[in-house]
Amino acid sequence: MKNTAATESRVSTYLLDNCAPEARARFAALEVLFDPGTIRHLNGCGVAPGWTCLEVGAGGGSIAKWLVDRVGVTGHVVATDIEPRFLEALRGDPNIEVRRHNIVNDPLPEAAFDLVHTRLVLVHLPERDRVLERLIAALKPGGWIITEEFDTFSVPSRPLVDGADSVLTVHTAMTQLLTEHGANGHWARLLFGRLRTLGLTGVEVEGRIFMARAGSPGLALMRANYEQLHGEMIATGYITRREFDVGLERLNGADFVMTLPILWAAWGRRP
Ligand SMILES: C[S@@+](CC[C@H](N)C(=O)[O-])C[C@H]1O[C@@H](n2cnc3c(N)ncnc32)[C@H](O)[C@@H]1O
Repeated sequence: MKNTAATESRVSTYLLDNCAPEARARFAALEVLFDPGTIRHLNGCGVAPGWTCLEVGAGGGSIAKWLVDRVGVTGHVVATDIEPRFLEALRGDPNIEVRRHNIVNDPLPEAAFDLVHTRLVLVHLPERDRVLERLIAALKPGGWIITEEFDTFSVPSRPLVDGADSVLTVHTAMTQLLTEHGANGHWARLLFGRLRTLGLTGVEVEGRIFMARAGSPGLALMRANYEQLHGEMIATGYITRREFDVGLERLNGADFVMTLPILWAAWGRRP
């Protein structure tokens, strides 16, 4: 794979386009909220100098950057995204290759990587099961895959448990819209079984969950997503303009709390 802005990617159904003004806030929030746990998992797999790593859907690039620093001059990192504009700053590093690449159908080398990592990408792709098989095929024998995805299904907000624990109409509308565009809120829960069925060894799984509240990165993440998708949520009739405005206003409340989806991390090794 070369440092190139290839045009082979076909049209994507992904809605949270990185070209939108809200993308920067989304990536900043994802980094603060989830990078510490992701780095713990990467360390757990023993990522070391000299490793060759693939970061799929690298987004804001914080994990790609961490990998570049970890694998050092003897290692190599390939960071891909359908819209890699936030990865441009990483291109100067000699041991990284930034690639505009659609993981669904663009070429991917086989048996090439010591580590493949992806976070919050597969959940959006209707072809997620086939893509997971491709990612495993891209591993060298003995290589690790770590995939981290949202489960919007298992632990929803429950005002019955705590009156302040809110189910926002705007959140329900966004989930409906993303589902209509191919997202699957159940799939992350199945990852443990999937990795075992696909023949990996040492398969483990861990879920992380946070509350969104005023001033938290979780709330910043949700606000960025709601704001980016508000036009389509209203146009499709999932929510009215007024419901959207009321929902956004509730985010400002000092007592507002909302459970975020579980982020399941599942990992295993190619035999
Ligand atoms: C929710 S963001 C997560 C970004 C980053 N992985 C993180 O967790 O901070 C999803 C990323 O996947 C990228 N993406 C979506 N569909 C893709 C595809 N088919 N192939 C490669 N990247 C894709 C998006 O452009 C976006 O950068």
